[in-house]
Amino acid sequence: MKKQKILIAGGGSTYTPGIVAMLADNIDRFPIEEIKLYDDLAERQEPIGAACEILLREKNSDIKFSYTTDPEEAFTNIDFCMAHIRVGLYAMREKDEKIPLKYGVVGQETCGPGGIAYGMRSIPGVLEILDYMEKYSPNAWMLNYSNPAAIVAEATRRLRPNSKIINICDMPIAIENIFADILGLESRKELTVRYYGLNHFGWWTSVTDKSGHDLLPQLQRFVAKDGYAFETEDFQHKHPSWKATFKKAKDIYALDPTTLPNTYLKYYLYPDYEVANSNPDFTRANEVMETREKEVFEIAHKIIDNGTAEGTSFHAGAHATFIIDLACAIAFNTKERMLLIVPNNGAIDNFDSEAMVEIPCLVGNDGPEPLSIGSIPTFQKGLMEQQVAVEKLVVEAYIEESYQKLWQAITLSKTVPSASVAKTILDDLIEANKTFWPQLK
Ligand code: NAD
Ligand code: LMR
Repeated sequence: MKKQKILIAGGGSTYTPGIVAMLADNIDRFPIEEIKLYDDLAERQEPIGAACEILLREKNSDIKFSYTTDPEEAFTNIDFCMAHIRVGLYAMREKDEKIPLKYGVVGQETCGPGGIAYGMRSIPGVLEILDYMEKYSPNAWMLNYSNPAAIVAEATRRLRPNSKIINICDMPIAIENIFADILGLESRKELTVRYYGLNHFGWWTSVTDKSGHDLLPQLQRFVAKDGYAFETEDFQHKHPSWKATFKKAKDIYALDPTTLPNTYLKYYLYPDYEVANSNPDFTRANEVMETREKEVFEIAHKIIDNGTAEGTSFHAGAHATFIIDLACAIAFNTKERMLLIVPNNGAIDNFDSEAMVEIPCLVGNDGPEPLSIGSIPTFQKGLMEQQVAVEKLVVEAYIEESYQKLWQAITLSKTVPSASVAKTILDDLIEANKTFWPQLK
């Protein structure tokens, strides 16, 4: 098996150490020659890079390791770029969440006006790293977690249609881990699922074991009573706000008891409840800054101060395993079945063939081969058509630098009550994002 050369872009991300640790622990199935980190902010990346260097030296000193802010050094001679950048950092996520909430509208990282604002920042950031990759390693693949994945995926479909980028999300995987827990199984990998939708906007229609036994009814009985509120130790989703989200799945499920829903649908289906249960002065961004971000950097500094990673551990969960599975599938043609964000191209036959949808694909050397879904029901189709129009309008607004289209996008979001509220929020978002967004005409 050829040893792979990996670049992690967004080297200073809270998820980087988990992925590095997981890569080092998986060399039997995914052999590695080199890991590099790249970030455009040296001071953010420095502690993560220095801690990962120590960790890797102790776990596997054969793997070459470095970190840099120089794009040429970073992107030259790589097989994969695993990307998870956050343009504007948590300071801007906080504004994405708090500005809409000020006007009684859902304030969320990827959904509604906050997600749209983040999308307008992420598009140029992701295009920049994609262009670096194509310049310095034209045969490499980018496996991209950078959010908001739906808008980023639509932007890369429109603006870099031939690029080797696969946009991914770990939320379905995290929920499938809960399925496995509810069913008393060792791993979600014992399940075969059918799922369709947009990113952060989808439904499971089938869950079976490997012999084809239908497990959906058992899961539905649980969800009808408790949502996805099965106690897990999952690091990313252990905080109070996530516990409430998992409970709320019960009410999302009630709208279509023939399927199982993605948790993010709550922002579109119960926006009034969400706003009523949000604290406009302390949002998810604050929660993450006080917990995950703080903890990751504390561990990094501890490793550096001690000169050893002994006695410490970075969390590496669904997020890290999923991206390594995907890299494995491409590098070694495993044909693993995975949920990915891909152009519809007729997979959902009664839906826009140019929409980016999240559906099961078989993954091999040539990338994803989407599976056919067939026709979807009117409820889901109606919701998805509205939401995909929002995502397309954001990308058009970015390309055309159009105030009008961004106003239309925010107005069309199911989270927003009226065009006037949309305009007020947009004007605040423009002010907050002026160093990031193109100047809108
Ligand atoms: P973070 O702020 O801790 O890290 C992001 C890093 O990206 C920072 O170090 C920042 O300096 C860097 N960065 C920003 N712009 C850059 C650019 N243009 N070039 C290079 N580096 C750049 O964020 P985080 O909480 O670790 O999340 C990282 C990303 O992963 C976010 O986009 C987040 O939404 C996403 N995420 C995705 C999923 C998913 O399943 N799709 C799940 C969790 C997180
Ligand atoms: C995170 O933990 O930052 C992400 O999983 C997204 C979110 O809203 O919490």
